[in-house]
Amino acid sequence: MNFESPVGVFDSGVGGISVLKRLVQELPNESFIYYGDTAHAPYGTRNVDDIMHCVNEVVDYLLRQDIKALVIACNTASAVAAQTLRSWMQIPVIAMEPALKPAALLRKQGRILVLATPVTLKLEKFQKLYELWGEGAVPVPCPGLMELVENEDFAGAETYLRGVFSTYDPDSLDAIVLGCTHYVFLKSLIRSMLPQHVFVVDGNEGTARQLKHILEEKRLCSSGGRGTVKLYTSGDAHDIEVMKQLYAYDI
Ligand code: DGL
Repeated sequence: MNFESPVGVFDSGVGGISVLKRLVQELPNESFIYYGDTAHAPYGTRNVDDIMHCVNEVVDYLLRQDIKALVIACNTASAVAAQTLRSWMQIPVIAMEPALKPAALLRKQGRILVLATPVTLKLEKFQKLYELWGEGAVPVPCPGLMELVENEDFAGAETYLRGVFSTYDPDSLDAIVLGCTHYVFLKSLIRSMLPQHVFVVDGNEGTARQLKHILEEKRLCSSGGRGTVKLYTSGDAHDIEVMKQLYAYDI
């Protein structure tokens, strides 16, 4: 491994592609290897041991590609595995969490809805975040929503979200936190469904800045030239096609 090695990025499926896009924008000289564990998706409704097992296999694969840093482009996998991975991995591990803090800083008097997987919202990582920044915030588990993104079923996602938002007076909302990287592909849809004053917040930009900071701090930045992006999946060729389509999608 050296400073020209790629950065490994993974998610349970295509959600992390939304993160990858942001990483490439922030660090165009770096090379990235993306792994979508589509064959084992969704993570967010599995038990924690299962998820850990899947994550270990993905990490093994990425380490064999000689990566210099790992980005867990998945809130669920971060909640389950980040601490354990950091305890033994020799390279920097960048993890994600629902962007509740930035949303709380934008909040006036209204509610914040935190949309995420059931596992993310249940685990200690989020519980701690909620204790600190959760005033006015409502955790909203969204089982089934990531599958609609995986299938690029945006009409289905709209129906799903109408159901979620129908419980709340739209004027009482200050912000929506997209606490699952799949939901970032629904950002413009969500914006179009809610009044203009409602902020829609995700953690992708913060994650990209964090990776940049760590590569600089550890003197791991690539020396120049345009980086490359390689996509892998535990699924099939169709999954790679969906990844490519979503990579081209204007978020
Ligand atoms: N993209 C994921 C996240 O950020 C996981 C979705 C899933 O596999 O359930 O939580």
